[in-house]
Amino acid sequence: MKKILPCVIGLGYVGLPVFISLKKKFNVVGYDVNYNRIKSLRILKDNNNEFKKNDLKIKNNSIFTNKSKDIEKCNFFIVAVPTPLKNKNQPDLKYVLSAFKTISKVIKKDDIIFLESTVFPGTTDTICKKILLKNKNKITEKEFYLGYSSERINPGDKKHNLKNISKVVSINTNQKIIRKVKKVYNNVSKKIVISKKIKEAELSKLIENTQRDLNISLMNEIMILCQKANLNYNEVLRLAKTKWNFLNFTPGLVGGHCLPVDPHYLAFFARQKKFNTKVTLAGRKVNDSMEKIVLKIILKKLQSITNFKKKKILVTGLTYKSDVADLRNSLALKIYLKLKTKFKNLIGFDPIINKNDALKYRIERDHRLMNKADIIIVLVKHKFLNKILNKLKQNKKIILLFDD
Ligand SMILES: NC(=O)c1ccc[n+]([C@@H]2O[C@H](COP(=O)([O-])OP(=O)(O)OC[C@H]3O[C@@H](n4cnc5c(N)ncnc54)[C@H](O)[C@@H]3O)[C@@H](O)[C@H]2O)c1
Repeated sequence: MKKILPCVIGLGYVGLPVFISLKKKFNVVGYDVNYNRIKSLRILKDNNNEFKKNDLKIKNNSIFTNKSKDIEKCNFFIVAVPTPLKNKNQPDLKYVLSAFKTISKVIKKDDIIFLESTVFPGTTDTICKKILLKNKNKITEKEFYLGYSSERINPGDKKHNLKNISKVVSINTNQKIIRKVKKVYNNVSKKIVISKKIKEAELSKLIENTQRDLNISLMNEIMILCQKANLNYNEVLRLAKTKWNFLNFTPGLVGGHCLPVDPHYLAFFARQKKFNTKVTLAGRKVNDSMEKIVLKIILKKLQSITNFKKKKILVTGLTYKSDVADLRNSLALKIYLKLKTKFKNLIGFDPIINKNDALKYRIERDHRLMNKADIIIVLVKHKFLNKILNKLKQNKKIILLFDD
């Protein structure tokens, strides 16, 4: 068997943990077009705050690079680039297309290529394959192996890490290649689930996140209803949860790169098949509407505090979910920015986010500010807040939106 030389393309929330798992066994090339990302990784700094210096230390010939010539010798490519939405919530595959163009320039006979980005069915086997076939080395369809492996990494979650969660790996080829694929992916996850049909694996990823989006939206809707009906949501939930098959979802601000995006990829795929889905996107409207609803609730609560305009107000928990630095599609951030335009006596505080984002959105990271505030609004409850809030609640007004 030829020596396996893996290359991870895209070193973000998904690609970096894959790189870290693989570098323990292989000489891995970690490639990213963002030179700032490469520069900080080289000095052992992960601006996403997911990994510490020790995790990033390299003891073999693995490298971080933004130069495509460094990936020329690689023969096992893993692509983990963003898949956002463009206008009118259409899938935006531009990063996937450019990553596959990069691979097409270096592809050789017997290379194995995996896409890990979340995509609609058909992306890997049709769109990506087409790009690879336009290669200058005249490598034909039968001479390389293309697969899809969905990513279930849950940033901020220390319990479900890459090693102990199962990983779907799909490639339609012979046993010899599957053995080679397992040799690589066994270092990423201990529980590999093989799927023969790439499209089924692609679809499975979309439904995982759509199901979660829908379940949270139902809880959001019930919470709003309870408020309107003047009923205690927590008590209603306590009672419902005593049924054995009641699912434990909680209301909240849904954001990030997955839940607000993936149902649109699923609906897009359905439209391609001339099927107009009715449920898939229903949760999206409710979950997006939480921005306005929460803003209204906060304004009402503030107005009930005497002289609140003269008090020091601090808004915290601004990322898309607890204990991650990611601000993408964060409703908490949007709510904070709206509040900031309304009140001069209000500051944003979130020590979890990185320095650049803090500067960009005028968010403070100094813990002492919590002591100085009169009113603290918590949008997303990071773990560190649990202890502090208990201490602070004696002499400050705390507005806690979601207590999970
Ligand atoms: N973040 C999550 O929790 C999560 C979980 C499961 C699946 N996913 C999916 O994984 C994919 C990646 O998401 P992410 O959160 O890691 O994104 P990210 O933005 O954190 O990282 C992507 C990286 O890819 C780089 N990049 C973009 N185009 C490139 C190119 N052509 N060549 C090389 N590098 C390129 C970017 O510079 C960036 O560093 C998405 O499809 C997402 O839906 C994300």
